[in-house]
Amino acid sequence: MINKIHSLGGYIHEYQKSIANPQAFWAQQGESFFWRKRWENVIDWNFDEPSIKWYVNGKLNITENIFERNLYTHGDQEAIIWEPNNPQDESRVLTYAELFSEVNKFANTLRRLGVGKGDRVAIYMPMVPELAIALLACARIGAIHSVVFAGFSANALQERINDASAKVLLTADGGFRGDKVTPLKQIADEALESCSTIETVVVLKRTNSPIEMIVGRDIWWHKAVDGQSDVCPAEIMDSEDPLFILYTSGSTGKPKGIVHTVGGYMVYSAYTFTNVFQYHAGDVYFCTADIGWITGHSYIVYGPLLTGAKTLMFEGVPTWPDAGRFWDIVNKYQVNQFYTAPTAIRALLAKGNEFLENKKLASLKVLGTVGEPINEEAWHWYHDHVGMSQCPIVDTWWQTETGGIMISPLAGITPTKPSFATLPLPGIQPVIVSNEGKELSGNSVEGNLCIKFPWPGMARTIWGDHERFRTTYFSSYSKMYFTGDGVKRDEDGYYRILGRVDDVINVSGHRLGTAEIENAINEHPLVNESAVVGYPHAIKGQGIYAFVVCGELSTGGEEGIRRSIMQGVTKIIGPIARPDLVQLVPGLPKTRSGKIMRRILRKVAEGDASNLGDISTLLDEDVVDQIIEGALVDVKV
Ligand code: WTA
Repeated sequence: MINKIHSLGGYIHEYQKSIANPQAFWAQQGESFFWRKRWENVIDWNFDEPSIKWYVNGKLNITENIFERNLYTHGDQEAIIWEPNNPQDESRVLTYAELFSEVNKFANTLRRLGVGKGDRVAIYMPMVPELAIALLACARIGAIHSVVFAGFSANALQERINDASAKVLLTADGGFRGDKVTPLKQIADEALESCSTIETVVVLKRTNSPIEMIVGRDIWWHKAVDGQSDVCPAEIMDSEDPLFILYTSGSTGKPKGIVHTVGGYMVYSAYTFTNVFQYHAGDVYFCTADIGWITGHSYIVYGPLLTGAKTLMFEGVPTWPDAGRFWDIVNKYQVNQFYTAPTAIRALLAKGNEFLENKKLASLKVLGTVGEPINEEAWHWYHDHVGMSQCPIVDTWWQTETGGIMISPLAGITPTKPSFATLPLPGIQPVIVSNEGKELSGNSVEGNLCIKFPWPGMARTIWGDHERFRTTYFSSYSKMYFTGDGVKRDEDGYYRILGRVDDVINVSGHRLGTAEIENAINEHPLVNESAVVGYPHAIKGQGIYAFVVCGELSTGGEEGIRRSIMQGVTKIIGPIARPDLVQLVPGLPKTRSGKIMRRILRKVAEGDASNLGDISTLLDEDVVDQIIEGALVDVKV
């Protein structure tokens, strides 16, 4: 089994080993898996091209490591515990043996539909067990899954399907979320109006919403699976064959299809899951993320299932039927490890402690957070009220691109500090770099967070655009992976993540590129140009503030335009990208060469324009005064 760390001394020892001899360290972690053919080299890499290969020429299938490797020991154990949206409804539990059988049946279904190794399968589904089954069925036959979060719009889904040239789309008639139903099939139909590569759409019946089935293209999930064998030989994959594509936002252009490969991702997701959460056999682990994001991939599906854990999957939302829902789930299943996002903690904190009172939370042993910096107030509330001062908090820093947790306490082992992700995991070599590219060594320094040595879970490329992969991550600082985050290392050598230093904003733990939102706003017929920045938001962490220049006002007046801009963004990207504030401005602050001075807009949005810094290159100072005057937040001048 994976090398599990039990003490701080053990961590220090493992960390040192991993730096002194990464090959030996990662070979040892790789040993605990089942390989059809052992690897030749542990790593082949350079950060110039970049070219990153782990467990080179190893052959395996990740699902054999979830199922065949473990069936003798825990076939009858619970694998997925599923809690539906409506607590009154039946819940569902799948043992490892049952999950294996479902995965095989669906893998055979996909094969029958002509899906083979390397084909892309787009997945646009609610949080039901079939979603996890779909991922694993793809992995079983070597197809590459590309999950699109079920809150994205038709337009966003279309863009992702086309970028990956997916052959099959898996969706559902609808999805339940609190008291709402998302018409997933209808949205998918709209997306598919111009997706030439999709041959088949498999539709799961979930909400019984009225939908249209297109003859020759659409088939019902239950009919497609009916009669399929529950035995499906695994496709033998190379370590470096892609396992999945997951789209994420960057500071420029369209979303990037981040590619993760089979071997390294397997070892890394399992290693980090075991050590960070200190999972013990029999524990019930609950991660509240959606499988549409990387957290769901690595820490609902792959990491836990590779280690034989019981993973809880929740279909609904934290505030329905009321803000005590998470705690009811914790009690119902006696959850031991609970992993969520700071935005959810802040939202529940704001609802008051009455939703926590009388809840039985004594089963909890470990609390986790991910996705954005956690402020101290939220950290303390989580620690004192949810964890009753008994549970360590693991503040886990990582990214879609890193595949797994990078900087984090090990639960109950690493002494924590509120708002600090603390120390790097074994194998991870973070460095802090100044804007000029100088490595800042020693403690009490602040700068850009880079990683100077590869780790098995790291992304290998951007689907269809390796050059973009190089320029985005490996060109800012020579021979280093640049994360896009700012970081501070304190006097104890502990890391505190400060947030993005690029034009990416983090809204309720969701990553959004400001350029992407601007493009959506600019589609509006009355908009000439726009600039989007983040601003501090009590619940969401960051809110979206759009400064928009319009040619003329329509009959609806200013309010009408604002509303239609917000609706436009919802339609083009999805509700998560909808601006919170839209200010109509006479112009944007620009330099003489025509570049937008976002720094000024950020200051206004943050409510402090008392020190705008150097504005000597500003073309028109009046514009700034007008923006401040019309600001939608109080601005100190
Ligand atoms: C931010 C989510 C502070 C960070 C797994 C990163 C965090 C981005 C933390 C990646 C944390 C994630 N503390 N900030 N513990 N975890 N972030 O790709 O800015 O959705 O670059 O992956 O979230 O977001 P992504």
